[in-house]
Amino acid sequence: MDSRPIGVFDSGVGGMTVVKELMDVLKNESLVYFGDTARVPYGTKSKQTVTKYAFQNTRFLLSQGVKAVVIACNTASATSLEDVKAHFDVPVFGVIEPGALAAVSASKNKKVGIIGTERTILSGAYEKAIKALDPFIEIKSTPCPLFVPLVEEGWADTEVAYMVAKEYLKPLKDSGVDTLVLGCTHYPLLMSTISKVMGQDVVLVNPARETALMVREKLEELGLFSANDEKPYYKFFVSDNPEKFQEIGEKFLKKPIYGIELIDIER
Ligand code: SIN
Repeated sequence: MDSRPIGVFDSGVGGMTVVKELMDVLKNESLVYFGDTARVPYGTKSKQTVTKYAFQNTRFLLSQGVKAVVIACNTASATSLEDVKAHFDVPVFGVIEPGALAAVSASKNKKVGIIGTERTILSGAYEKAIKALDPFIEIKSTPCPLFVPLVEEGWADTEVAYMVAKEYLKPLKDSGVDTLVLGCTHYPLLMSTISKVMGQDVVLVNPARETALMVREKLEELGLFSANDEKPYYKFFVSDNPEKFQEIGEKFLKKPIYGIELIDIER
């Protein structure tokens, strides 16, 4: 038994999609979340910069006494997971492998679409993970760089978001994919807009759920679960604009978030 919290980081508020699933799947586990709202988006930055951020964020979470780290950000998972794993002595989880697993099991016609930030799509990480599971799957991927600012702005369910989604998703829709991986933490917040564009028959894969299940399996294997009667606590840290984080985060979690702390991550 280990009552220390699980650490989660993301480039902003999007990682709350992972927090929501972790809260649901691991009801006794405490969580410490860091949203790097001062430096979002990561998806347009170089691998070197994203890896530097990932190291700083992991160090911060470890200073909070976490027993494991979940890289909720797809961009950081795609570019830096192996480096973070090699450097820090705690279990570290990313979102790519779980997302790939979910996509492979969801697709019936073996045509899978992937959307993500420029950096995630450029990395080819989802393609590699999917092909490793099933080399016969046809993959079509496209970056959707405007989705992150739309979500961070609180515009996920607006006409503007719909128009942008229609433009980005047209080639994927035309290619007949039956499964679409939402390869960015922010995209599940656009689920209903994306579904309106792609149509009801296309399965939208949110890697967050699969990630939470993978974390549960691994913690159990390592004997790192909190005790059953443990009352969990949740702590939230951001590097900028806690008010906005609270507004969007609460909308998504559908519960209040208390005491968000502002920190200087580069200190
Ligand atoms: C970003 O910071 O650009 C989006 C986060 C992600 O890639 O999941």
